[in-house]
Amino acid sequence: MKSSMVAKHARWPKENDIIFNLSERAQVAEKTIGKKNVINATIGALMDDEGQLISMKSVYDQLKSLQNNEIAAYASIAGQDDYKEAVKKVCFQGNDPKGYIRVVASPGGSGAIKLAMWNYTNFGDVILTSDWYWSPYGIIGEEAGRSVANFKLFNEEGKFNIESFKEKFKEIIDKQGSIFTIINSPGHNPTGYSLSDDEWDEMLNYAKEIAKDKSKKIIFFVDVAYIDFVKDDIASRKFFKKFGELPENILTIVGFSMSKGYTAYGMRMGAAIGISSNEDIADEFYYSLMHSCRANWSNCNRGAMEVLSHLAENKEKFKDYVEEKNKYKNMLESRAKSFVKGAKEVNLDILPYRDGFFISIPCENPKEVCEELTKENLYLVPLKMGLRFAVCAVSKEKCMKAPKIIKDVIENLSQ
Ligand SMILES: Cc1ncc(COP(=O)(O)O)c(C=O)c1O
Repeated sequence: MKSSMVAKHARWPKENDIIFNLSERAQVAEKTIGKKNVINATIGALMDDEGQLISMKSVYDQLKSLQNNEIAAYASIAGQDDYKEAVKKVCFQGNDPKGYIRVVASPGGSGAIKLAMWNYTNFGDVILTSDWYWSPYGIIGEEAGRSVANFKLFNEEGKFNIESFKEKFKEIIDKQGSIFTIINSPGHNPTGYSLSDDEWDEMLNYAKEIAKDKSKKIIFFVDVAYIDFVKDDIASRKFFKKFGELPENILTIVGFSMSKGYTAYGMRMGAAIGISSNEDIADEFYYSLMHSCRANWSNCNRGAMEVLSHLAENKEKFKDYVEEKNKYKNMLESRAKSFVKGAKEVNLDILPYRDGFFISIPCENPKEVCEELTKENLYLVPLKMGLRFAVCAVSKEKCMKAPKIIKDVIENLSQ
């Protein structure tokens, strides 16, 4: 047996993150044969056409204009009051759900997921999310002794699979008496799918039906990490209102992140926003999550909080930010359109894309396909059921070219 010192619960396979591994290989290829000859679609961050990380000037000018003390001081455990207000303002943008709303600051959206999962599931519980999903949901759960079960995201016609959602939801809640469901919309990672307002209605109506049994506890975790890169900023936020005036035994937690929307990935700032029609339940959310903050990381990045607070309270600054962000949003949209068009032209099967940083391609043997694609100098990420192409990181011209390369490799391998 290999030597080991860690506690039993901390023994995990010795493996590096596959995404970072492929990303490193892509960078080596770029150095060897030149950036223009490599398509690096592994990175989950906005990159310019030359492959450089985009950082918004409006955000970083604000950071650099802060007084040293604004950056250096400890923050309140649950976040500064003006930050908590700023989060509600920029996240809901006037679509605040009716009810009691509480905000707890977290290190990125990941921190919000951790806080929510830990406080609203029991040891051994099963968490529900779609079969195409961001793998850290599973990792965060697994670390705490929770596991993930899936509903099928799409039906045979490529539409949102509400039947599969209902079936799994019922199965879990009947067994556990409570359910924690993660819905990542709009701009789902990895598919780029966004639920329509009707799909939200169907899902919530079903949950309301189940919630008539007052012994049941229903938690929706709505991960909106990509909400600032959705075509229509206003229309895409209307669904927030649906979380108002729900039965007391349905609690909604919105996972907010500054990583993508403010190109602030490394600043590690986000928040969990709890929404309930019952004040006690909202307060309980606040104090339980705050306890976890203290127990895990104490408080968050004060400077990052100040950035958002200043941007949100100053109309001119916010306008400049929105203009800058929209420029990048348009860039992303035109890249995604090129990929979708390219895929159509060569008949490459892709999943329905609406918004966001990624497009997914279903296929057999994703790891093998990925490896073969590296021989064509195209690097992307293998998932369980297919491939993830990061349109956020690849120029329009390369987005247009990539589908044919992928199609050819998949076809060759299947022969
Ligand atoms: C689906 C999804 N949720 C949440 C996050 C949170 O990211 P962060 O912890 O950097 O805010 C990400 C980042 O990649 C993501 O893809």
